[in-house]
Amino acid sequence: YLNYQVTRTRKEIYETLVKGLLRLEYRGYDSAGIAVDGPKKTGNDNTICIIKTKGKVKALDEELYKKDSLDLEEKLGTHFGIAHTRWATHGEPSPVNSHPHRSDKGNEFVVIHNGIITNYKELRAYLINKGYEFESETDTEVIPKLTKYVYDNRENDGITFSTLVERVILQLEGAFALVFKSWHFPGEAVSTRRGSPLLIGVRSEQELTTDNIPIQYNSVHYNEGVQEKNSHNRPDSSSPIDCVGDGRPVEYYFASDASAIIEHTNKVLYLEDNDIAVVKAGKLSILRVKHQVGEDPVRAIMTLQMELQQIMKGNFDAFMQKEIFEQPESVVNTMRGRICFDSNTVILGGLKDHLKEIKRCRRLIVIGCGTSFHAAVATRQVLEELTELSVMVELASDFLDRNTPVFRDDVCFFISQSGETADTLMALRYCKGQGALTVGVTNTVGSSICRETDCGVHVNAGPEIGVASTKAYTSQFVALIMFALMMSEDRLSRQQRRREIIEGLRVLPELIKKVLALDKKIKAIADELYEQKSLLVMGRGFHYATCLEGALKIKEITYMHSEGILAGELKHGPLALIDKDMPVIMIIMRDACYTKCQNALQQVTARSGRPIILCCQDDPEISQMAYHTIELPHTVDCLQGILSVIPLQLLSFHLAVLRGYDVDFPRNLAKSVTVE
Ligand code: F6R
Repeated sequence: YLNYQVTRTRKEIYETLVKGLLRLEYRGYDSAGIAVDGPKKTGNDNTICIIKTKGKVKALDEELYKKDSLDLEEKLGTHFGIAHTRWATHGEPSPVNSHPHRSDKGNEFVVIHNGIITNYKELRAYLINKGYEFESETDTEVIPKLTKYVYDNRENDGITFSTLVERVILQLEGAFALVFKSWHFPGEAVSTRRGSPLLIGVRSEQELTTDNIPIQYNSVHYNEGVQEKNSHNRPDSSSPIDCVGDGRPVEYYFASDASAIIEHTNKVLYLEDNDIAVVKAGKLSILRVKHQVGEDPVRAIMTLQMELQQIMKGNFDAFMQKEIFEQPESVVNTMRGRICFDSNTVILGGLKDHLKEIKRCRRLIVIGCGTSFHAAVATRQVLEELTELSVMVELASDFLDRNTPVFRDDVCFFISQSGETADTLMALRYCKGQGALTVGVTNTVGSSICRETDCGVHVNAGPEIGVASTKAYTSQFVALIMFALMMSEDRLSRQQRRREIIEGLRVLPELIKKVLALDKKIKAIADELYEQKSLLVMGRGFHYATCLEGALKIKEITYMHSEGILAGELKHGPLALIDKDMPVIMIIMRDACYTKCQNALQQVTARSGRPIILCCQDDPEISQMAYHTIELPHTVDCLQGILSVIPLQLLSFHLAVLRGYDVDFPRNLAKSVTVE
């Protein structure tokens, strides 16, 4: 966060940074830290003050006001402060491992980092050999140390901050979004990314004079290895872009996610890999480390549609709960402008130009992680049915581990709420490399997956803050169904089926409301179950995905053991778990698997199991055999999974609350998994 000639007190600056961290806390939250300008030393030397704490952002916030060395009411006309909330990958959560990391005890260079540096061991060994002392166990700490090393070994005094950063990142492998601060370059901000998201918000009282920031190419010739050989200090090749007017008041916000800055500005630009953004004397310029042929010559300033209210909890106790209850609207937003219920047509604007190519493909490969993978499992059958193509569903990490053969005539879908999941992104790059057409299905406009795919669909569920994904799942589900409908528009034999599904989508929001109205009943079931150690969720056909997703929700926020079991596999092993004490949830809907599910139910009750059954309204046969029933409105078989997952979302929420856990901040988890 950099304010230029906008007078803010230090307290206001703290508040801005802390608020941004709080909005991002859902992405990672085991420690937090901040770096701001400290008091001037004797003469006119600048200092940087770093404050870090273990735990949530609240702990950092309290710590800031304990420091009496910094004047909270001091008014600052130009100020650059950085802050970070960490989710540990290297080294335990502790103040010393948290960010910002520094070059030395004098805080010459400080850095915050999102991502992972894979060659940090080599760099660390190199720097230790050069006499640098490390204080943390993190991969990140090599970055400020390396910056100082390059600075100390510069060839002339005129080196710019951006050149320095450029030289540093040429040595880094892995994924990163970085923001650098240095007292050698007061009031100057440099940030860069490769593989991890980074955006810049611009706030100015005046109208922005341009919507596009041209990128600057540079000619730095840097050799391999850390040692500088033939490098030269290029003059600062940036000619700053006057996007907000020379010398006029402006504030810039650097963030990994728009939710951190939306309350200050909706004007943002997304950096691309290997961009270096520099803000100096109030002006922003963007440099490229490597020039690639055919690349976009500008970074456009976009206006975000996100509202602050969308990322606030409102009257709900938790974001997850709010997002569960938003589903009647979020599925409408996914369908809005895309389905014509009168003519039974579906148009996904982001795919229509590629439709012919998709129809000609050999197979569809649908790839994701966690909940997004479950959305692929949930819709696989209807995709196969309506597209008449072979459909593979793949967990991104496993897909990569197997070096799965992919061909030019494959179409690969990448499902991701955040659009930043590292495994999914790697799988995307892999498939692109094999020449396949790539399609993104994401909930985050401007995310890496949405930018790197050939085409795609935004699911438009609205920002999802709760770590446990809920409304994104149902919107992904709807988006994939819409794709299947679009693919089958010209198949005469499918018209009746298409009409039935489209009608099902039309009434879906109303049916979701009816399911949400069961909340009290579900809470009562949670009251009975919350002290259990384990919970099985069993079903088959269209509901197998619901079992996987329900079990994932339960384990991630309640920490109970939970397994999603394919009912067809029951007698091949899981039946051994069943007795009168083992809680089992069974999903038995009136669809093609009904009789087979009844068989599974018989087997469970014959072992004294006491199943809680999700079934259709008015199904006395099933209700008789149940310990409890949750009766759901009936819809088309391939949409029923949207209704059957919601009771499990609610159940996991209530179980977590009853067990005393923080629903939005499950231990060990982060919302965006930007590391492999
Ligand atoms: C579970 C959950 C995760 C994510 C997974 C993929 O509730 O949220 O399993 O679904 O990490 O994330 P995205 O969809 O952002 O790629």
